[in-house]
Amino acid sequence: MDKNKIKIGIIGFGRMGITHYSIINSHPNVEIVSVADTSKTILSILKKFNKELNVYTDYKELIDESKPDAIIISTPPNLHYPIIKYAYERGVHVFCEKPFTANKQQAEELTNLFANSNLVNQIGFAARYGDVLNKAKELIDQKVIGDAIRFKGEMFSCAIIKKTSGTNWRDNEENGGGVVYEMSSHMIDLINYFFGEPDNVAGTVRNKVFSKNVDDLVSTTLIYNNGLVGTLYINWSDESYRKPMISLEVFGSKGKIIADFYGYKIFLSKENKELNLRKGWNTFYLTDVYKPTPFYVRGGEFTNQLYNFVELILGNQKTNLCDFAEALKTERIIDLMFKNSITINN
Ligand SMILES: NC(=O)c1ccc[n+]([C@@H]2O[C@H](COP(=O)([O-])OP(=O)(O)OC[C@H]3O[C@@H](n4cnc5c(N)ncnc54)[C@H](O)[C@@H]3O)[C@@H](O)[C@H]2O)c1
Repeated sequence: MDKNKIKIGIIGFGRMGITHYSIINSHPNVEIVSVADTSKTILSILKKFNKELNVYTDYKELIDESKPDAIIISTPPNLHYPIIKYAYERGVHVFCEKPFTANKQQAEELTNLFANSNLVNQIGFAARYGDVLNKAKELIDQKVIGDAIRFKGEMFSCAIIKKTSGTNWRDNEENGGGVVYEMSSHMIDLINYFFGEPDNVAGTVRNKVFSKNVDDLVSTTLIYNNGLVGTLYINWSDESYRKPMISLEVFGSKGKIIADFYGYKIFLSKENKELNLRKGWNTFYLTDVYKPTPFYVRGGEFTNQLYNFVELILGNQKTNLCDFAEALKTERIIDLMFKNSITINN
């Protein structure tokens, strides 16, 4: 490997593949050498704009022929497992979109493989790289609101607001579709990041609204042995939201914090002079905590996570906020949710 220039291949060139291409293409130490997608239409359009690029319909050929140092995987989730395994066998670093895999067993196997290698492994739970959410985590870790007692995590979008035909991968649970894998995995990962892995899961209820084969809404309760309890409510069929929304509210012994991608509010029962926070509500916006990124697409967190991946490979960075071992925690929680859930068919 050229110590200063990493060769990257991108597998899966849909919504996220295009996002990742545009971001990572801006990194001075990266050369995108190849793209794989099963759609020949996508590949021919891409080739028109970049004649030098190697394109493949088969990810194995991309890995064997273009010999990337690292790959970015943005295919439907059921393909993450075979692609990551193939990359491992050929000594290729992996950044893979969330969810890690479409079942817990596959995630366990891959985590064990990579734990015994020097290969960088990262899952794209981008919320871990959001400036506002990280500020909220810092305040919670500093116990500014005292001991956390309860939390409420919510996510909403208008992704599925009419009856589906059942043909898209998002409408197939085995492919990693459905609101639990597709959307609630983000919030579960964020909870793992903030508070560690919950010890128990109770009261999972899933609703079908518009999807033919999968759930569109899910709620559940996450319980910790230390007494912390949290509820999740995730809904991708809510047309009152134009853009996806993620919100975390934490109630503590000395106050409360409510954070999303765009700002946070903190309520304190007593003034905190050291941090210049008054008694009562204090409100902050993204602009108060935003750290500029070299290339901005859809939110700084997407750039932060991919640049971090490159710096890990180059050896300039040691902290990996979401390696496979971290992402496996979310697979375990989803597995528990599925095992003890009630489904309502509306
Ligand atoms: N981090 C986020 O915020 C976020 C947002 C959306 C999606 N995602 C994740 O990104 C992944 C992709 O989602 P998307 O929205 O880009 O989906 P998409 O359907 O837009 O794109 C998937 C692409 O993979 C291609 N593909 C299918 N089989 C393939 C194969 N065998 N080899 C190569 N390419 C293949 C498809 O042709 C398509 O172009 C999923 O895991 C999803 O959960 C993450």
